[in-house]
Amino acid sequence: MLGGVSAPHDIPLALSYDDVLLAPRRSSVGSRADVDVASRLTRSLGLSVPVVSANMDTVTESEMAIAMARLGGLGIIHRFLTIEQQVEEVTRVKRAEALVIEDPHTIDPHAAAEDAAELMVELGVSGLVVVDGERRVVGMLATRDLALRGDGRMRVDQLMTPRARLVTGGPDTSSKQAAELLHTGRVEKLPLLDEGDRLVGLITARDLTQRAERPGATTGAKGRLAVGAAIGVRGDVLPRARALAEAGADVLVLDVAHGHSDAALRSLDAVREAVGDEPQLVAGNVATAAGARDLAQAGADAVKVGVGPGSVCTTRVVAGVGVPQLSAVMECAEALAERDVPVIADGGIRSGGDVAKAIAAGASSVMVGNLLAGTPESPGVVVQRNGHRVKVFRGMASAPAAAARRAVDESDETDFERVVTEGVEAVVPLRDAASRVVHQLVGGLRSAMSYSDARTVPELHRKAAFVRITPGGLRESYPHDVDL
Ligand code: XMP
Repeated sequence: MLGGVSAPHDIPLALSYDDVLLAPRRSSVGSRADVDVASRLTRSLGLSVPVVSANMDTVTESEMAIAMARLGGLGIIHRFLTIEQQVEEVTRVKRAEALVIEDPHTIDPHAAAEDAAELMVELGVSGLVVVDGERRVVGMLATRDLALRGDGRMRVDQLMTPRARLVTGGPDTSSKQAAELLHTGRVEKLPLLDEGDRLVGLITARDLTQRAERPGATTGAKGRLAVGAAIGVRGDVLPRARALAEAGADVLVLDVAHGHSDAALRSLDAVREAVGDEPQLVAGNVATAAGARDLAQAGADAVKVGVGPGSVCTTRVVAGVGVPQLSAVMECAEALAERDVPVIADGGIRSGGDVAKAIAAGASSVMVGNLLAGTPESPGVVVQRNGHRVKVFRGMASAPAAAARRAVDESDETDFERVVTEGVEAVVPLRDAASRVVHQLVGGLRSAMSYSDARTVPELHRKAAFVRITPGGLRESYPHDVDL
């Protein structure tokens, strides 16, 4: 439909979220609680909540990714980090509440208690397994043991709980057995040992409880929280992709401003070759059916749609390029339906209504930047601006983001005098926890599903009926004729 335009009246109309509403229909859905918003991010990764946090340096690092996966969504760690730093962020998510921590943090029995204390703070853990040079477990050291370290000259083996008093499990301990052992032993941590007493894993009571409390969490292999990580198309893309896959990233997001480019398609091929079938590959961004089709053809397991709708994007102003997001999502979803490749609607989400429209238009999930940037889980510090407490939020193609990228990538030879930016840096108000923001967004989606007589996301895809509205209709949609 797009392309080959010859005369003004041939120019197709493209719509955005504000140009439409979902028409209500007779519904047999009794309550919002009766709808199931479960969906999927990629061909094989399911989500119980179809919201992902954007791969932006002011939105997603490990803390946000952990929160999003616990909620049943997913976080995509941004790529403006060194490979080592990005791998570390992925590893933090993987360690957050793994059923079995396969490589627990350890310390030598002869180490100084002071060093153990520092290490625990640095790693953000409340206990260390004490192992000898053969990795045989000789004890456990907890933060509370360190309270007795006195003048700091004591050694770990003088403060630890010794091996004889430890509750331990074998390499194949199930979560049920672990729960029983932890409960009867009244302990918080269960080291797993092989027949030679060597450390092979650790199960914590906290992880077991959290898992039981959150059955909808998004998990990958070995029951660990799932996480995505962004990669580009140039430079170190292949070693980065390999390192992230090795660290356990469940999804790699090949993310460039113009995903429908030869470079992106080549890169997709090369990344697939480099990492094999394991991590799912998302590619983007595109805004046309042809772009979506080409990425799917090249092996993308999901396509990210959105050129210019983001709240800090200026691509449409600077380059005059983009497709209003509702039309972009609809076209791409329609083009990919037969191939069974899901669409991620990326950018421009301001409310639950926008989430509902994006999913009704055929997307399987939405990617959110702005609305999550002000939450406590986003990276960055709280600053005062005009008497208000705010957080910085910036487009990844903004000048400050480009400068930050240069700081981690010495091979980046961008000439900042000449850089043409397609994003801005801004501040956003502080918000409640990410869980509250996501709850509001998903509440809107649930409501839309009950108005649309849809109990599931695929049913919404089939049944949604849009009406186009005028500026008058839009005015009527917002509160009016009242003092707010
Ligand atoms: P929201 O509206 O949720 O959108 O803040 C987040 C999405 O915006 C995109 N993004 C950019 N687009 N220039 C752009 O044209 C930029 O500098 C930029 N930074 C982020 C990206 O797709 C993100 O997920």
